[in-house]
Amino acid sequence: MMAGRYYGMELDPGEYRLEAGEKTPSAASLSAWAQNSGMWARAVRLRWRHLMSFKNTGPVVLLFTDGTAGMLVGANTEHKVVLLKDPRMPEAEAPLPVDEMRLADVWTGEAILLRAQRGYAEKDPPFSLGWLFGLVLQERKSLRDIGIASLAISFLTIAPPMLVMTVVDKVMSHHSYSTLTLISTILAIAILYETLLGYARRLIILVVGTRIDTKLSLHVFGRLMRLPLDYFERHPAGETMYKVSQLNVVRQFITGKLLTTFLDMITLCVLLPFLFWLNATLAWVVLVCATVIALIVIAYLRPIRTVYARVLTAETLKSAALGETIVGMKTVKSLALEPQRKALWDERVAETGRWRLALGRISNWPQTLVTPLERFMYVGVIMLGAYLALTDNSGYMIGSLFAFMMLSQRVSQPLVGMARLLEDWEEVAGGMAQAASVLNRPLEADAASGGLRPKFAGAIEFQDVVFTYPGTKIPALDRVSFSVPAGTMLGLVGPSGSGKSTITRLLQGINREYSGFVKIDGADLREINLRHLRSSFGVVLQENFLFRGSIRENILAGRPGLTLEDAIRAARLAGAEEFIERMPNGYETYIEEGSPNLSGGQRQRLAIARALITDPRLMILDEATSALDPESEALVNANLLRIARGRTMVIVSHRLSSLVDCDQILVMEKGKVADFAPHHVLLERCAVYRRLWSQQNRHMENQGPRHAALAPTLAQGD
Ligand SMILES: Nc1ncnc2c1ncn2[C@@H]1O[C@H](COP(=O)(O)OP(=O)(O)O)[C@@H](O)[C@H]1O
Ligand SMILES: [Mg+2]
Repeated sequence: MMAGRYYGMELDPGEYRLEAGEKTPSAASLSAWAQNSGMWARAVRLRWRHLMSFKNTGPVVLLFTDGTAGMLVGANTEHKVVLLKDPRMPEAEAPLPVDEMRLADVWTGEAILLRAQRGYAEKDPPFSLGWLFGLVLQERKSLRDIGIASLAISFLTIAPPMLVMTVVDKVMSHHSYSTLTLISTILAIAILYETLLGYARRLIILVVGTRIDTKLSLHVFGRLMRLPLDYFERHPAGETMYKVSQLNVVRQFITGKLLTTFLDMITLCVLLPFLFWLNATLAWVVLVCATVIALIVIAYLRPIRTVYARVLTAETLKSAALGETIVGMKTVKSLALEPQRKALWDERVAETGRWRLALGRISNWPQTLVTPLERFMYVGVIMLGAYLALTDNSGYMIGSLFAFMMLSQRVSQPLVGMARLLEDWEEVAGGMAQAASVLNRPLEADAASGGLRPKFAGAIEFQDVVFTYPGTKIPALDRVSFSVPAGTMLGLVGPSGSGKSTITRLLQGINREYSGFVKIDGADLREINLRHLRSSFGVVLQENFLFRGSIRENILAGRPGLTLEDAIRAARLAGAEEFIERMPNGYETYIEEGSPNLSGGQRQRLAIARALITDPRLMILDEATSALDPESEALVNANLLRIARGRTMVIVSHRLSSLVDCDQILVMEKGKVADFAPHHVLLERCAVYRRLWSQQNRHMENQGPRHAALAPTLAQGD
């Protein structure tokens, strides 16, 4: 962390993870930590002479044998010492000169080189076929092995026909038994070799395919995680899933058909000259047939492409309908919308079926036209060969005819396969485009890896912020300005659609295309590292997603370095402790997706505990209690003051009663700030606020107010 600080990066110890099986931090896991925080970092092994060259560079971290570490801040070649700093020493103390002998006693030889990368955006190449090929080419070594195996196999395939030729020509005419035995032995060996090589080749292809698959899956998910929230709000989950899964089509093509065809091409290159040597006339017949087949397939490419695009669109819509129905099943069931959803599904399925059928019809044509040519290539060659043999007088024709027939199969296959490849190409290009349409969107990455990582106190300031959601005309926020010091409990009220949630979204950096300034502790939000920003916030929304797992796992949410004690502390603060302890298994109670075994209030308190687990300086509660029954709401509200101690809280609520205790209340109306003051001041001077207040408290006037203390204010306000 000290080294990071030197480079202006605040590393978060909470983000550090020991690698599996590690007891003390290793150079690899430490540099991974720095890299994940947006620094350039490398774990290296160094020697003394390397250290001597670190003169005017920044600090390098050296790992010691006892599991501690030190910072190399310089070297002195004259005195042959390096200058070390112990992180436990006070910052101001001069570094310790250490010579080679003494360092060798404690140093493991491992070091971590660090560099700042402020404003550095991870340069991810866009998803494209070129990128995928690049991925495949990373397996160069294996591909070379596969190529060699294929080449060897190709040569081996020549052996049997050659031998058959010899058998027919020599053995038959000279009745030589010894030659037959010899040939049989050679054949057996050749077959054995071909089997072994074939096995090895398939194995390597399998390994390469799996490796590429794994890399692709990891990369795609990483990419998906870095898409802005905006994208997910605008696109149904089913659609995204379908589009991304299209990458599988592409991957299968590349490691499957493309690779096989490529390998067949090797065979072709070996065999074709040999065929010409055997019999040029017949070889020409094969070549011409194959070319015509290829031309037919190519001619149909364009119409197939057009129809295939329609198929893809239909499939995407179908997928979106399925996803939407499953996600919204609760609503579907409770409103008895099954028939409507079924009708929609019917329509989507019919549409997909229609275009699939059309696609099948069109692709049926090239296949039909190609069949006679393929057959002719086989049968025609035999007939023509027989004719040639009849007219030939040398007597050696029969043998070579046999050999030719055995080999011509192997040649026509790759030729036709190549043409078929073009057909599949359409599908692949389409799939790639689909996946790219999701994955090649602008990522949040630039903001996530670069930027400042200050320690927040929690002062918030908006200066003339104007923000319009993309695709809308009226600004959601219109010249919003306000500021609160750290530790404030800030209430946000206003009618629905007045821009309350938008303010919290800007604060979290979800939407960043605003004008004006949003500042935290005086630092421009746009300068702050996104991940750091968000992990410094605790956010509770109206609907919170609880993941599958135990209550403890849900509260910890997989954050490293936290224990059950932390979970209990957070639960206590959130007022969730009492119900968790009454659960059958306490903190180990299992929650299903969607948490049917929890009430709304319980779910909400769990969500608050989850937000509190990191003890954030800033909390945002966006209508967190709005969907709760009065009793649960009162329970949560009762805890708010306790929770707010020592942090800045932004509480959005349309229920004013939950904001009475706030230090400041920001009243929003139609994206503008209507007023900004504490409750009692607002009651006096803000018409919007007074109206909302009286609307919500009318019942109390009739029943005789429960909040006796508020009665005078109310009377005064009205
Ligand atoms: N993701 C979005 N895309 C487009 N417009 C949005 C989006 N979210 C909110 N809006 C619009 O912005 C305005 C303010 O919304 P919001 O901040 O959610 O209001 P509040 O939380 O006060 O009810 C509304 O007019 C709403 O329609
Ligand atoms: Mg809202």
